Amino acid sequence: MKIIVCRDKAEMSAVAASMVEAQVKEKPDCVLGLATGSTPEGMYALLCEKYAAGALDFSKVKTFNLDEYYPIKKDNDQSYAYFMNKHLFSHINVPAENIHIPNGECADPAEEGPAYDALVAAAGGVDLQILGIGRNGHIAFNEPDEALIMGTHLTSLTESTIEANSRFFASSDDVPRHALTMGIGTIMTAKKIIMMANGADKKEALSYLFNDKLTAAVPASLLKLHPDVTVICDEAACPDSAR
Ligand code: F6R
Repeated sequence: MKIIVCRDKAEMSAVAASMVEAQVKEKPDCVLGLATGSTPEGMYALLCEKYAAGALDFSKVKTFNLDEYYPIKKDNDQSYAYFMNKHLFSHINVPAENIHIPNGECADPAEEGPAYDALVAAAGGVDLQILGIGRNGHIAFNEPDEALIMGTHLTSLTESTIEANSRFFASSDDVPRHALTMGIGTIMTAKKIIMMANGADKKEALSYLFNDKLTAAVPASLLKLHPDVTVICDEAACPDSAR
């Protein structure tokens, strides 16, 4: 587990954007795994700037997002499809057919999950996966539980995640109660993982990447089994055990 401790969120975003830039330059037809949420917003803004400055070409890149609420329409301004268009896809030249996000409008989530994993595998797997972390240690929408699920699947949101995400909705009642999410197994097939975290409220969850425990009660703790994870965090989120 590598860790890069940054002064603040701006520096965290710049370091993460440079790693994505390096990946796209090294392998122009790479597969990127992408996250939503407030953590990666600054990184996406920097990638858009690099593209506008002619420094980056996404024309051969493929993308797979981690998750999407269910059910939700793509044009709902709280859908992750909408978020990705707003913050990244509408500003860069990634072809629409190369963009993949679990389909929040699908008729049968039980079919959508395996089909999504098959698409990831057919693309050759994710080269670089961007992750955020929930305050309760969730990654994607793999919430703390007695057992974690390998593949992409439909899951129920916990009260803590509903409350955390309610800041984006008119009220917590409007937060969808379910989501489609890559499973821990899908995430672990990525060749390289970047975990981004900023703010003191992420410190405790992040500490489980730097202790000796593997527990389904903190899904992010499973990342310790992956051979190539880089944590990029700000000072406030940096666990004492990682210093
Ligand atoms: C989003 C996702 C979530 C977020 C996590 C942190 O695609 O997978 O696991 O990374 O909830 O969210 P923020 O960045 O808003 O604190």
